[in-house]
Amino acid sequence: MSMAFYITTPIYYVNARPHLGHAYTTLVADAASRFQRMRGERVFFLTGTDEHGDKIVRAARKEGLSPREYVDRVSRLFRELWPELAIAPDRFIRTTDPGHQAVVARVLSRIHEAGDIYFSEYEGLYCFGCERFYTERELVEGRCPDHRVAPERIREANYFFRMSRYQDWLVDHIRRHPDFIRPERYRNEVLAFLREPLEDLCISRPRSRLDWGIPLPFDERYVTYVWFDALLNYVSALGWPEGELFAAFWPAARHLIAKDILKPHAIYWPCMLRAAGIPLFRHLHVHGYWKVEEGKMSKSLGNVVEPLALKDRYGLDAFRYFLLREMAFGVDASFSEEALVQRLNADLANDLGNLFSRVLTMAWKYMDGVVPAVDPETARQYGLGLGPEAVRTVLEYERAMEAFEFHRALAAVWEFVGRLNKAVDLSAPWELAKKKSTRPQLEAVLASLLKGMRLVAGLLHPVMPHTSARMQAQLGLEADPRFTNLEDMKLWQPFPAGTRLGKASALFPRVEPATAEPGPEAAAPGAAAAPETPTRKPEVGIEEFLKLDLRAATVLAAEPLPKAKKLLKLEIDCGERRTIVAGIAEHYRPEELVGRQVIVIANLKPAKLMGVVSQGMLLAAGGEAGPVLVAPVKPVPPGSALK
Ligand code: MSP
Repeated sequence: MSMAFYITTPIYYVNARPHLGHAYTTLVADAASRFQRMRGERVFFLTGTDEHGDKIVRAARKEGLSPREYVDRVSRLFRELWPELAIAPDRFIRTTDPGHQAVVARVLSRIHEAGDIYFSEYEGLYCFGCERFYTERELVEGRCPDHRVAPERIREANYFFRMSRYQDWLVDHIRRHPDFIRPERYRNEVLAFLREPLEDLCISRPRSRLDWGIPLPFDERYVTYVWFDALLNYVSALGWPEGELFAAFWPAARHLIAKDILKPHAIYWPCMLRAAGIPLFRHLHVHGYWKVEEGKMSKSLGNVVEPLALKDRYGLDAFRYFLLREMAFGVDASFSEEALVQRLNADLANDLGNLFSRVLTMAWKYMDGVVPAVDPETARQYGLGLGPEAVRTVLEYERAMEAFEFHRALAAVWEFVGRLNKAVDLSAPWELAKKKSTRPQLEAVLASLLKGMRLVAGLLHPVMPHTSARMQAQLGLEADPRFTNLEDMKLWQPFPAGTRLGKASALFPRVEPATAEPGPEAAAPGAAAAPETPTRKPEVGIEEFLKLDLRAATVLAAEPLPKAKKLLKLEIDCGERRTIVAGIAEHYRPEELVGRQVIVIANLKPAKLMGVVSQGMLLAAGGEAGPVLVAPVKPVPPGSALK
């Protein structure tokens, strides 16, 4: 049965250019929308810009423009950015749209008539940066928590929304709907806040102070407070109160925000809807913050990450993949270009890219690029038996995508990619291709692999739409409407025999980091030389760890290398005799090493150092005073594998 799916992003302030944070939220909404379309849902995805208020007036003045000219210009930057990032909203709303302004006026009149808006003189602590009054308990050491300046005491007659009246109702609603605010930590935060009495909300600003806003329909001397205006975009965009869109999508509404704007969305907005007689939205999805070098991204710190620059440097889909794979939804994440490059090289160029190029190359070499017909019996006997795992992958992916756990959904896909790569190694199609008698096996194996790749390519559509389309073309399936249909994927149908594959071409070229730290090769060879501060490296799957051939070894002989102060040449037994050059001469004497056990990486590419070929690397911990060799705590037979 098809359900509607309505997803919104915050409408962004136009006082700054779009940055990584805006791109992330909008990307999440795009990926979620594409995923729901894969399930056959009717989707409406809304984003836009928030254009009224004092902040905007001040930004315009700084640029020497009128507010109108200024908002047109910056709003366009947002609107034009999204297609560049393959983000495809169904509507881009602006709070200066006449339709939106009319809805704001209508809701205000309704609430006013119902008696929930009153006029009152108020004296309070006002932060001009935030455009709002603060209560004493909201301040941090007497200062605004955002702007870190002491608010000014001002006295003003204003209109107030009787929000306090909805407190008990709201607490009850949140308690009775555990998934109203997700993840749980933010729900708890809101409930904790609601333990204290809720105050009424000041919803007007005198025009003498601020003219750039929507006039109150019942008092022309005032304009509407920006938050009261902005939140209503979520219903005005659907044509509230009439309109087919409103009827179809509002019952399925999900708002997506970061934690910075939890309070207006979890408290003001439900109370406003209740007072206006509009049913509540379904879910509020809250994500964490992207930090740069462990700090907040901010214009004044000069560490704002420009989404377009990254996309241009590393490719659009790599950028999209990284953001969704790296951040655990709900928790803060650190952004670094090094981590992006790592993921690009490891996950995309290596795991995914190699799988496609290896299998497609073989399919061309051994089958002329045409998918063979494999009868069910042969498939059963010689195929790779991927079915149960494939279905498990789709189900876990679906669960995780539905729960906004994008990193988990992608991890599930990569586990399957790992399984396919392993299957290539184990089944060794190049061996099967040597004999005529193993032709049926070869065909069954390649057909199985292609089927697995079709699944991977389809599942990647929401996150990497361009790459997914390129893979679809490489698999010769352009015209197949089932390619991105989730229900079809669960059926694990055979790859249509006779399909003509497209040519293999590299999906992701490896990249060198722009600002890379010197890699391990730059350190003294043979062993980690300098003490390193442990930094958290990106998570790896067990299959990546298993690629390393780590073994215990016994040192048979050791001698200095002439002219190399830091290097020792060792002969070791790691199940076989090897020569290793290690950068430990300043810390170990040759004679103290002979007979000792060490740990080596036995499958490291050989490297020539001072004319000697080193066939591995010793493991050492980066101690204060230099490297300390790592050894088994009890002697073991040389060559014992580490696991
Ligand atoms: N105009 C209001 C929202 C009104 S919605 C009715 C506003 N605008 S904003 O331009 O400041 O955007 C805030 C939102 O941008 C966050 O909630 C989040 O979606 C996104 N992000 C801005 N910086 C971010 C990070 N550093 N990290 C992650 N997301 C961030 O508030």
